[in-house]
Amino acid sequence: MPVKPNLLRAILRAVVTGASPYGIPVTAKFRMGIHDELLTFIRTGQIAEEEGVAAIALHARTAQQHYAGTANWDAIAELKAAVTGIPVLGNGDIWEAADALKMVEHTNCDGVVIGRGCLGRPWLFGHLVAAFNGEPVPESPPLGFVGQQMADHCRLLAEHLGEDHAVRDFRKHTSWYLTGYPVGGEARGNFSKINSIAELDHLIAALDPTLVVVPGGERIRRGHTNGPIRVILPEGYLDNLDDATPPDDGHVMALSGG
Ligand SMILES: Cc1cc2nc3c(=O)[nH]c(=O)nc-3n(C[C@H](O)[C@H](O)[C@H](O)COP(=O)(O)O)c2cc1C
Repeated sequence: MPVKPNLLRAILRAVVTGASPYGIPVTAKFRMGIHDELLTFIRTGQIAEEEGVAAIALHARTAQQHYAGTANWDAIAELKAAVTGIPVLGNGDIWEAADALKMVEHTNCDGVVIGRGCLGRPWLFGHLVAAFNGEPVPESPPLGFVGQQMADHCRLLAEHLGEDHAVRDFRKHTSWYLTGYPVGGEARGNFSKINSIAELDHLIAALDPTLVVVPGGERIRRGHTNGPIRVILPEGYLDNLDDATPPDDGHVMALSGG
């Protein structure tokens, strides 16, 4: 979408206009562009600011890059320098609280957005609060605490989805919660096949609650790691970048992506 500035502007204007009677601030998050030769993030940020968006966030990768390589924090700094009237948030590769401080120092951004770093590590947000308040950041918790969080998390999910659906969904979370803890492949495999909360509880009870994360375990990638990808756009999409016609509904999913 950001590759077509008039279309982007029209959409942001419509959203901001629609939300403003209700006092709802609109925020926008975007990537650097489609690929390294088609970067759009500076102009996107400027258009967002002009159209009354309350804050913007940059995932400092291109769509083509997907999740490959490292996020380009220099781009966040460029965006922050170019957009001065609204908060600019940085996103990409914050795995630990110290990374957030480094990003702010490197880019001068006004805040950070967390993606994969909180998968199986919901306490990261508490660590961020401590870090930004200049307080000591706690160590990663021992496995006993992680197990309690897993049990709570799955139960909360079950309140929303029902136990069956929640437990299936939660299988992937168990792998994230256990990342960095040397529990062994068999235990991981068992967690990935749970069919009930009782089974989850049973497996948690069998874990050694004193186990701690291996050195650097917090930084083991979780969630998406794939890329680069081939970006597929609707036929002729780049022929007229001034065009403000919304893409056909059937093509919208081809354009989406965090
Ligand atoms: C579980 C999950 C859900 C996500 N959902 C969205 C989403 O709905 N919209 C979006 O723009 N990005 C989404 N993202 C992408 C993240 O916001 C973020 O841009 C990306 O993961 C890069 O940040 P990271 O390196 O900290 O993971 C999601 C990421 C994860 C892990």
